[in-house]
Amino acid sequence: MDLVHTIADLRKRLAGEPFVALVPTMGNLHAGHVSLVDLARKTGDGPHVPRGGTSGPSPVVVASIFVNRLQFEPGGDFDRYPRTLKEDCAKLEKAGAHVVFAPDEREMYPAAQEIAVTPPKVAEALEGEHRPGHFQGVATIVSKLFNIVAPQAAVFGKKDYQQLAVIRALVRQLNFGIEIVAAETVREPDGLAMSSRNGYLSAAERKEAIRLNRNLRGVKEALETGAEDLRSLEDAAMEDLRKAGWRVDYVAVRDRVELAPPRPGQRELVVLGAAWLGKTRLIDNLEIER
Ligand code: PAJ
Repeated sequence: MDLVHTIADLRKRLAGEPFVALVPTMGNLHAGHVSLVDLARKTGDGPHVPRGGTSGPSPVVVASIFVNRLQFEPGGDFDRYPRTLKEDCAKLEKAGAHVVFAPDEREMYPAAQEIAVTPPKVAEALEGEHRPGHFQGVATIVSKLFNIVAPQAAVFGKKDYQQLAVIRALVRQLNFGIEIVAAETVREPDGLAMSSRNGYLSAAERKEAIRLNRNLRGVKEALETGAEDLRSLEDAAMEDLRKAGWRVDYVAVRDRVELAPPRPGQRELVVLGAAWLGKTRLIDNLEIER
């Protein structure tokens, strides 16, 4: 596995590679990120099967590690976000990544980033309402990474469900021509979605943290067994969290594509939630099967 820090070295390393799969991350990697690398290694013989051939080239898997200042709000956790490059590289090597691209801030932003990518409509609600500027920062850095790495495929997690929708729109509307692969959310044994931010939780908070997932599961199961009143399910979930001391940003049932409030009878739904437990903001979501 090669560790490269500059765009020039990365381009040299990837020159002539027929199929590159990118896994963008901010580091402090856990089993969720590793599952993205596993998926990335399986790309490459899907839509790119050569004419008459049976399989395409196996991919060169590039994981990028960059804590992107642009997507953190002022007063957010940019400064205390964990930076653990050495441990991350060990995990990536074990997972079978071929290249780690870990640029520093001056490599990615040598001058003020004056050009920004305006995120699509799907970015406006939910996270967009509670983290102004966040998706513009994400769309901008991911566009830069796409241009730098020029991958054929890129893998993103459903853990950040709205981010995935933003990236899909980005690729479509800016014609990146990159296949976007979605990875299922990897969870702790009790159901808590793995997240670099879980490390901020105290032992007591860690025990309590499962309440968000438990409430989303409650909404999911109610809808899967015939409940219809979305508003009262959302309200009950938010109320339960508030009573336990959480500060709730939202619990919302949405359609899976536009992330808009569902029309009556609409089937492909997802329930998403975001809430603060002490100083830690947790998000999670579950797709509803019915
Ligand atoms: P980060 O939070 O490090 O996440 C990197 C990728 O891992 C994202 O696609 C995210 O959805 C996925 N991921 C995180 N937790 C996961 C879990 N428990 N199961 C499965 N996948 C999980 O998301 C970002 O970084 C940044 O916004 C980035 C896209 C790198 C742009 O800066």
